[in-house]
Amino acid sequence: MRIDIITAVPQIFESPLNSSIIKRAREKGIVEIYVHDLHDYGIGKYRQIDDHPYGGGAGMILKPEPIFECIEKLKSEREYDEIIFLTPDGELFNQEMANEFSKLNNIILLCGHYKGVDERVREALVTREVSIGDYVLTGGELPALVVIDATIRLIPGVLNDIESAMTDSFQSGLLDHPHYTRPAEYRGMKVPEVLLSGNHEAIRKWRYEKALEKTLKRRKDLLNKIKGDGKNG
Ligand code: ADE
Repeated sequence: MRIDIITAVPQIFESPLNSSIIKRAREKGIVEIYVHDLHDYGIGKYRQIDDHPYGGGAGMILKPEPIFECIEKLKSEREYDEIIFLTPDGELFNQEMANEFSKLNNIILLCGHYKGVDERVREALVTREVSIGDYVLTGGELPALVVIDATIRLIPGVLNDIESAMTDSFQSGLLDHPHYTRPAEYRGMKVPEVLLSGNHEAIRKWRYEKALEKTLKRRKDLLNKIKGDGKNG
């Protein structure tokens, strides 16, 4: 998979894309990630990338020309499955979307900044608009990293144990069950007996019940979804 990120703040990506699992996935050649600085496509001596909104109002708007030029250059080099704009008024990102993205070959992630982006970019270039939650961040950079992280870990070969991704919270439609490791007793707190029993069927049942209990308590909406589409239960 190849991911091209277009941003006005490329330095935000330095550490996250060069650490831990994402770093390893890049080193293994499973994913290629390129960060493009919008200022390289800026206009004039000052490499201008934003301007005041027509009609007045606060905040600056990303100009269309640098974004068009950058995206057109990338599109002339290869085909893209999606051009995704990160924006708080986009479609809400979820595990299903991460699964879908993890199967794509080439994607562009366009990070909004300042007050927004000229609407013509959205109309003419963007194929998908994604929000990571109902709150407003200073730009689309952190959301892009969230999308990248959630997506990449689902590509086969990225995690050492694919099973650990398949049993995540949400992947099954339920929140995750509790986990324990050694010691069996710590400061008087004991690991549930069933997990030490070696009885795999009893352990599976216990985990399912705990997952259900937690989902019922915290995220009833997820249970309604399972019931609604009949896919998982
Ligand atoms: N840009 C600013 N806030 C955002 C959000 N919640 N999701 C995606 N992009 C954003």
